Amino acid sequence: MKTYNVAVVGATGAVGEEIIRIFEEIDFPLNRLVPLASSRSAGGKITFKGKDLVIKELTETVFDEENIEIALFSAGGSVSAKFAPFAAEAGAVVIDNTSHFRMEDDVPLVVPEVNPEDIAQWRNRGIIANPNCSTIQMVQSLKPLDDAFDLIRVDVATYQATSGGGKTAMEELVTQMKDFFNFTLNDSPHVKFPHQIALNLIPQIDVFMDNGFTKEEMKMVSETSKIMHKNIEVAATCVRVPVLRGHSESLTMTFDSAVSADEARTLLEKAPNIIVIDNPQKSQYPMPANCVDQNETFVGRIRNDLYREEVLHMWIVADNLRVGAATNAVRIAQKWVEMEGGS
Ligand code: A2P
Repeated sequence: MKTYNVAVVGATGAVGEEIIRIFEEIDFPLNRLVPLASSRSAGGKITFKGKDLVIKELTETVFDEENIEIALFSAGGSVSAKFAPFAAEAGAVVIDNTSHFRMEDDVPLVVPEVNPEDIAQWRNRGIIANPNCSTIQMVQSLKPLDDAFDLIRVDVATYQATSGGGKTAMEELVTQMKDFFNFTLNDSPHVKFPHQIALNLIPQIDVFMDNGFTKEEMKMVSETSKIMHKNIEVAATCVRVPVLRGHSESLTMTFDSAVSADEARTLLEKAPNIIVIDNPQKSQYPMPANCVDQNETFVGRIRNDLYREEVLHMWIVADNLRVGAATNAVRIAQKWVEMEGGS
Protein backbone atom coordinates (compact mmCIF):
# COMPACT_ATOMS: atom_id res chain seq x y z
CA MET A 1 0.00 0.00 0.00
CA LYS A 2 1.31 3.44 -0.93
CA THR A 3 2.25 5.74 1.94
CA TYR A 4 2.75 9.52 1.79
CA ASN A 5 5.18 12.20 2.93
CA VAL A 6 3.04 14.85 4.61
CA ALA A 7 4.10 18.38 5.58
CA VAL A 8 2.22 20.38 8.23
CA VAL A 9 2.90 24.08 7.64
CA GLY A 10 2.29 26.01 10.86
CA ALA A 11 3.00 22.90 12.95
CA THR A 12 3.45 24.97 16.13
CA GLY A 13 0.13 26.81 15.75
CA ALA A 14 -3.33 26.09 17.17
CA VAL A 15 -4.56 24.30 14.01
CA GLY A 16 -1.22 22.70 13.07
CA GLU A 17 -0.91 21.05 16.49
CA GLU A 18 -4.44 19.70 16.11
CA ILE A 19 -3.65 18.27 12.65
CA ILE A 20 -0.67 16.43 14.14
CA ARG A 21 -2.82 15.07 17.00
CA ILE A 22 -5.38 13.79 14.48
CA PHE A 23 -2.65 12.01 12.49
CA GLU A 24 -1.68 10.30 15.77
CA GLU A 25 -5.27 9.16 16.30
CA ILE A 26 -6.26 7.91 12.84
CA ASP A 27 -5.02 5.24 10.52
CA PHE A 28 -3.55 7.37 7.70
CA PRO A 29 -1.13 5.92 5.11
CA LEU A 30 1.70 8.11 6.37
CA ASN A 31 5.32 7.51 5.42
CA ARG A 32 6.87 10.63 7.00
CA LEU A 33 5.41 13.65 8.80
CA VAL A 34 7.42 16.86 8.34
CA PRO A 35 6.55 19.73 10.72
CA LEU A 36 7.26 23.15 9.21
CA ALA A 37 7.11 26.57 10.88
CA SER A 38 8.96 29.88 10.88
CA SER A 39 12.67 30.33 11.60
CA ARG A 40 11.61 31.15 15.20
CA SER A 41 10.61 27.52 15.78
CA ALA A 42 13.01 25.73 13.40
CA GLY A 43 15.29 23.27 15.21
CA GLY A 44 12.75 22.75 18.00
CA LYS A 45 11.02 19.41 18.46
CA ILE A 46 7.53 18.02 18.55
CA THR A 47 6.56 14.55 19.72
CA PHE A 48 4.75 12.38 17.20
CA LYS A 49 3.72 8.81 18.03
CA GLY A 50 6.26 8.72 20.87
CA LYS A 51 9.17 9.98 18.76
CA ASP A 52 10.78 13.42 18.48
CA LEU A 53 10.46 15.17 15.12
CA VAL A 54 12.61 18.22 14.37
CA ILE A 55 10.68 21.29 13.19
CA LYS A 56 12.05 22.54 9.88
CA GLU A 57 11.92 26.07 8.54
CA LEU A 58 9.37 26.77 5.83
CA THR A 59 11.35 27.70 2.73
CA GLU A 60 10.68 27.79 -1.00
CA THR A 61 12.70 24.60 -1.53
CA VAL A 62 11.74 22.46 1.49
CA PHE A 63 8.86 20.66 -0.28
CA ASP A 64 11.18 19.49 -3.04
CA GLU A 65 13.98 18.58 -0.63
CA GLU A 66 11.64 16.57 1.61
CA ASN A 67 9.77 14.95 -1.31
CA ILE A 68 6.43 16.15 0.09
CA GLU A 69 3.27 14.69 -1.48
CA ILE A 70 0.60 16.28 0.75
CA ALA A 71 1.07 19.75 2.31
CA LEU A 72 -1.43 21.04 4.88
CA PHE A 73 -1.10 24.81 5.33
CA SER A 74 -2.31 26.61 8.51
CA ALA A 75 0.12 29.47 8.95
CA GLY A 76 -1.95 32.44 7.75
CA GLY A 77 -3.04 33.79 4.36
CA SER A 78 0.18 35.58 3.44
CA VAL A 79 2.26 32.46 4.15
CA SER A 80 -0.04 30.37 1.94
CA ALA A 81 0.01 33.01 -0.80
CA LYS A 82 3.79 32.92 -0.91
CA PHE A 83 4.61 29.27 -0.25
CA ALA A 84 1.66 27.13 -1.44
CA PRO A 85 2.68 27.57 -5.11
CA PHE A 86 6.15 26.17 -4.29
CA ALA A 87 4.56 23.11 -2.65
CA ALA A 88 2.31 22.59 -5.68
CA GLU A 89 5.23 23.11 -8.04
CA ALA A 90 7.13 20.39 -6.15
CA GLY A 91 4.23 18.02 -6.97
CA ALA A 92 2.40 18.07 -3.65
CA VAL A 93 -1.34 18.51 -3.26
CA VAL A 94 -1.83 21.59 -1.06
CA ILE A 95 -4.72 21.58 1.41
CA ASP A 96 -4.95 25.19 2.49
CA ASN A 97 -6.72 26.23 5.64
CA THR A 98 -6.55 29.98 4.99
CA SER A 99 -9.00 32.15 3.06
CA HIS A 100 -6.38 33.09 0.46
CA PHE A 101 -7.41 30.77 -2.42
CA ARG A 102 -10.96 29.86 -1.34
CA MET A 103 -12.99 31.89 -3.81
CA GLU A 104 -10.71 31.43 -6.83
CA ASP A 105 -12.70 29.70 -9.59
CA ASP A 106 -10.09 27.08 -10.33
CA VAL A 107 -9.52 26.11 -6.68
CA PRO A 108 -12.01 23.61 -5.19
CA LEU A 109 -13.46 24.48 -1.78
CA VAL A 110 -14.32 21.23 -0.07
CA VAL A 111 -16.25 19.81 2.85
CA PRO A 112 -16.02 16.03 2.30
CA GLU A 113 -19.52 15.36 3.66
CA VAL A 114 -20.97 17.84 1.14
CA ASN A 115 -18.96 18.10 -2.10
CA PRO A 116 -16.21 15.44 -2.12
CA GLU A 117 -16.40 15.21 -5.93
CA ASP A 118 -14.88 18.70 -6.20
CA ILE A 119 -11.55 17.29 -4.97
CA ALA A 120 -10.98 16.07 -8.55
CA GLN A 121 -10.38 19.72 -9.55
CA TRP A 122 -7.20 19.79 -7.43
CA ARG A 123 -5.14 19.30 -10.58
CA ASN A 124 -6.03 22.83 -11.82
CA ARG A 125 -3.60 24.49 -9.41
CA GLY A 126 -2.49 21.68 -7.10
CA ILE A 127 -4.51 23.36 -4.36
CA ILE A 128 -7.67 22.42 -2.42
CA ALA A 129 -9.07 25.06 -0.07
CA ASN A 130 -10.50 24.31 3.37
CA PRO A 131 -13.49 26.57 4.12
CA ASN A 132 -13.95 28.99 7.00
CA CYS A 133 -14.57 27.30 10.36
CA SER A 134 -18.12 28.67 10.71
CA THR A 135 -19.03 27.62 7.18
CA ILE A 136 -17.89 24.00 7.60
CA GLN A 137 -20.12 23.08 10.54
CA MET A 138 -23.04 24.96 8.97
CA VAL A 139 -22.93 23.29 5.53
CA GLN A 140 -22.47 19.85 7.12
CA SER A 141 -25.77 20.43 8.93
CA LEU A 142 -27.55 22.07 6.00
CA LYS A 143 -26.71 19.42 3.39
CA PRO A 144 -29.10 16.62 4.51
CA LEU A 145 -31.91 19.15 4.98
CA ASP A 146 -31.30 20.79 1.60
CA ASP A 147 -31.35 17.37 -0.10
CA ALA A 148 -34.76 16.67 1.43
CA PHE A 149 -36.53 20.04 1.54
CA ASP A 150 -34.67 22.40 -0.88
CA LEU A 151 -33.06 25.15 1.15
CA ILE A 152 -33.63 28.75 0.05
CA ARG A 153 -32.28 30.93 2.84
CA VAL A 154 -30.31 30.77 6.09
CA ASP A 155 -30.21 33.43 8.79
CA VAL A 156 -27.32 32.63 11.12
CA ALA A 157 -25.83 34.16 14.25
CA THR A 158 -22.48 32.74 15.32
CA TYR A 159 -20.87 32.56 18.75
CA GLN A 160 -17.21 32.06 17.88
CA ALA A 161 -14.44 30.98 20.25
CA THR A 162 -11.20 32.91 20.63
CA SER A 163 -9.10 30.02 19.24
CA GLY A 164 -10.34 31.05 15.79
CA GLY A 165 -7.73 33.81 16.12
CA GLY A 166 -4.91 31.38 16.97
CA LYS A 167 -2.94 30.72 20.14
CA THR A 168 -2.22 34.35 20.94
CA ALA A 169 -5.94 35.14 20.78
CA MET A 170 -6.69 32.38 23.32
CA GLU A 171 -3.93 33.78 25.55
CA GLU A 172 -5.51 37.23 25.35
CA LEU A 173 -8.76 35.89 26.88
CA VAL A 174 -6.89 33.98 29.62
CA THR A 175 -4.73 37.00 30.50
CA GLN A 176 -7.76 39.28 30.68
CA MET A 177 -9.58 36.83 32.98
CA LYS A 178 -6.53 36.74 35.29
CA ASP A 179 -6.43 40.54 35.20
CA PHE A 180 -10.12 40.62 36.12
CA PHE A 181 -9.40 38.67 39.30
CA ASN A 182 -6.47 41.02 40.01
CA PHE A 183 -8.80 44.04 39.54
CA THR A 184 -6.71 45.26 36.57
CA LEU A 185 -8.97 44.27 33.67
CA ASN A 186 -9.47 47.89 32.62
CA ASP A 187 -5.72 48.18 31.97
CA SER A 188 -5.41 44.79 30.28
CA PRO A 189 -4.18 45.12 26.69
CA HIS A 190 -6.07 43.83 23.66
CA VAL A 191 -4.14 43.11 20.49
CA LYS A 192 -5.94 40.28 18.69
CA PHE A 193 -9.44 41.67 19.28
CA PRO A 194 -10.76 45.21 18.75
CA HIS A 195 -12.10 45.31 22.34
CA GLN A 196 -11.79 43.48 25.65
CA ILE A 197 -13.06 39.91 25.10
CA ALA A 198 -13.20 38.70 28.72
CA LEU A 199 -16.75 39.03 30.11
CA ASN A 200 -17.80 40.58 26.82
CA LEU A 201 -19.16 39.81 23.32
CA ILE A 202 -17.76 41.47 20.21
CA PRO A 203 -20.10 41.63 17.18
CA GLN A 204 -17.17 42.04 14.80
CA ILE A 205 -14.89 39.33 13.36
CA ASP A 206 -12.43 40.63 10.77
CA VAL A 207 -12.94 44.00 9.06
CA PHE A 208 -16.19 45.67 7.96
CA MET A 209 -17.09 45.77 4.26
CA ASP A 210 -18.91 48.62 2.49
CA ASN A 211 -22.25 46.72 2.73
CA GLY A 212 -22.22 46.77 6.56
CA PHE A 213 -21.35 43.08 6.94
CA THR A 214 -17.93 41.92 8.15
CA LYS A 215 -15.50 39.95 6.01
CA GLU A 216 -16.14 36.87 8.21
CA GLU A 217 -19.88 37.20 7.56
CA MET A 218 -19.34 37.56 3.82
CA LYS A 219 -17.15 34.43 3.86
CA MET A 220 -20.17 32.48 5.13
CA VAL A 221 -22.27 33.95 2.31
CA SER A 222 -19.94 33.23 -0.62
CA GLU A 223 -18.45 29.94 0.62
CA THR A 224 -21.86 28.35 1.32
CA SER A 225 -23.02 28.79 -2.29
CA LYS A 226 -19.68 27.62 -3.72
CA ILE A 227 -19.65 24.42 -1.61
CA MET A 228 -23.35 23.61 -2.04
CA HIS A 229 -23.39 24.48 -5.76
CA LYS A 230 -26.52 26.58 -5.52
CA ASN A 231 -27.42 30.13 -4.68
CA ILE A 232 -28.57 30.15 -1.09
CA GLU A 233 -29.42 33.44 0.58
CA VAL A 234 -27.31 33.78 3.72
CA ALA A 235 -27.51 36.57 6.29
CA ALA A 236 -24.86 36.16 8.99
CA THR A 237 -24.01 37.99 12.19
CA CYS A 238 -20.66 36.75 13.50
CA VAL A 239 -19.89 37.35 17.16
CA ARG A 240 -16.71 36.63 19.12
CA VAL A 241 -17.48 35.20 22.56
CA PRO A 242 -15.26 34.57 25.60
CA VAL A 243 -15.00 30.80 24.94
CA LEU A 244 -11.63 29.18 24.25
CA ARG A 245 -12.77 26.41 21.94
CA GLY A 246 -15.98 25.55 20.07
CA HIS A 247 -18.06 27.67 17.72
CA SER A 248 -21.86 27.73 18.21
CA GLU A 249 -24.41 28.87 15.64
CA SER A 250 -28.10 29.64 15.78
CA LEU A 251 -29.65 28.83 12.39
CA THR A 252 -33.01 29.86 10.96
CA MET A 253 -33.56 28.01 7.69
CA THR A 254 -36.20 28.72 5.05
CA PHE A 255 -37.08 25.87 2.68
CA ASP A 256 -39.06 25.69 -0.54
CA SER A 257 -41.80 23.64 1.09
CA ALA A 258 -43.15 22.70 4.51
CA VAL A 259 -40.63 21.06 6.81
CA SER A 260 -41.13 19.04 9.97
CA ALA A 261 -38.75 19.21 12.92
CA ASP A 262 -39.16 15.46 13.53
CA GLU A 263 -38.23 14.58 9.96
CA ALA A 264 -35.28 16.98 10.08
CA ARG A 265 -34.09 15.34 13.31
CA THR A 266 -34.26 11.87 11.74
CA LEU A 267 -32.33 13.02 8.66
CA LEU A 268 -29.65 14.68 10.78
CA GLU A 269 -29.30 11.56 12.95
CA LYS A 270 -28.40 9.61 9.80
CA ALA A 271 -26.06 12.26 8.36
CA PRO A 272 -22.30 11.63 8.37
CA ASN A 273 -20.28 13.15 11.23
CA ILE A 274 -23.36 14.77 12.80
CA ILE A 275 -24.50 13.94 16.32
CA VAL A 276 -27.97 15.05 17.41
CA ILE A 277 -28.32 16.03 21.08
CA ASP A 278 -31.88 17.27 21.37
CA ASN A 279 -33.64 16.52 24.63
CA PRO A 280 -34.79 19.89 25.96
CA GLN A 281 -36.84 18.36 28.80
CA LYS A 282 -33.59 17.10 30.30
CA SER A 283 -31.69 20.29 29.37
CA GLN A 284 -29.68 18.33 26.82
CA TYR A 285 -28.37 20.27 23.83
CA PRO A 286 -24.95 20.91 22.27
CA MET A 287 -22.55 23.23 24.10
CA PRO A 288 -18.96 24.25 23.30
CA ALA A 289 -17.56 22.75 26.53
CA ASN A 290 -18.71 19.30 25.37
CA CYS A 291 -17.40 19.48 21.81
CA VAL A 292 -13.70 20.00 22.53
CA ASP A 293 -11.46 17.43 20.79
CA GLN A 294 -14.49 15.95 19.00
CA ASN A 295 -14.58 15.42 15.23
CA GLU A 296 -18.35 15.72 14.84
CA THR A 297 -20.80 18.60 14.53
CA PHE A 298 -23.44 18.57 17.27
CA VAL A 299 -27.02 19.63 16.50
CA GLY A 300 -29.92 20.36 18.83
CA ARG A 301 -32.84 22.67 19.66
CA ILE A 302 -34.44 21.55 16.33
CA ARG A 303 -37.85 23.18 16.21
CA ASN A 304 -40.49 24.44 13.79
CA ASP A 305 -41.14 28.13 13.41
CA LEU A 306 -44.23 29.44 15.17
CA TYR A 307 -45.58 31.20 12.09
CA ARG A 308 -44.22 29.70 8.87
CA GLU A 309 -44.32 25.96 8.10
CA GLU A 310 -41.36 26.18 5.72
CA VAL A 311 -39.08 27.64 8.41
CA LEU A 312 -37.00 25.60 10.87
CA HIS A 313 -34.66 26.64 13.68
CA MET A 314 -31.71 24.81 15.21
CA TRP A 315 -28.51 25.21 17.22
CA ILE A 316 -25.21 23.70 16.12
CA VAL A 317 -21.83 23.43 17.86
CA ALA A 318 -18.43 22.10 16.73
CA ASP A 319 -14.80 22.26 17.79
CA ASN A 320 -13.55 25.01 15.48
CA LEU A 321 -9.94 23.81 15.60
CA ARG A 322 -11.00 20.27 14.67
CA VAL A 323 -14.23 20.19 12.60
CA GLY A 324 -13.74 23.81 11.51
CA ALA A 325 -10.11 23.34 10.47
CA ALA A 326 -7.86 20.33 11.21
CA THR A 327 -10.39 17.49 10.91
CA ASN A 328 -11.82 18.84 7.64
CA ALA A 329 -8.30 19.25 6.22
CA VAL A 330 -7.33 15.70 7.19
CA ARG A 331 -10.63 14.33 5.83
CA ILE A 332 -9.86 16.09 2.52
CA ALA A 333 -6.45 14.41 2.55
CA GLN A 334 -8.06 11.01 3.22
CA LYS A 335 -10.55 11.50 0.42
CA TRP A 336 -7.81 12.72 -1.93
CA VAL A 337 -5.80 9.57 -1.21
CA GLU A 338 -8.91 7.47 -1.89
CA MET A 339 -9.76 9.30 -5.15
CA GLU A 340 -6.46 10.40 -6.60
CA GLY A 341 -3.65 8.92 -4.55
CA GLY A 342 -1.03 6.93 -6.34
CA SER A 343 -2.08 8.34 -9.69
P1 A2P B 1 5.94 29.95 14.57
O1 A2P B 1 5.45 29.28 15.84
O2 A2P B 1 7.31 29.52 14.19
O3 A2P B 1 5.71 31.43 14.56
P2 A2P B 1 -1.44 30.41 15.34
O4 A2P B 1 -2.50 30.28 14.28
O5 A2P B 1 -1.74 29.57 16.55
O6 A2P B 1 -1.15 31.84 15.67
O7 A2P B 1 -0.10 29.78 14.69
C1 A2P B 1 0.47 30.26 13.50
C2 A2P B 1 1.41 29.19 12.89
O8 A2P B 1 1.94 29.72 11.68
C3 A2P B 1 2.62 28.87 13.76
O9 A2P B 1 2.98 27.52 13.60
C4 A2P B 1 3.69 29.79 13.18
O10 A2P B 1 5.00 29.34 13.38
C5 A2P B 1 3.36 29.69 11.71
N1 A2P B 1 3.90 30.84 10.98
C6 A2P B 1 3.57 32.14 11.12
N2 A2P B 1 4.30 32.90 10.26
C7 A2P B 1 5.09 32.06 9.55
C8 A2P B 1 6.05 32.20 8.51
N3 A2P B 1 6.34 33.40 8.01
N4 A2P B 1 6.65 31.10 8.03
C9 A2P B 1 6.34 29.88 8.52
N5 A2P B 1 5.44 29.66 9.50
C10 A2P B 1 4.82 30.73 10.01
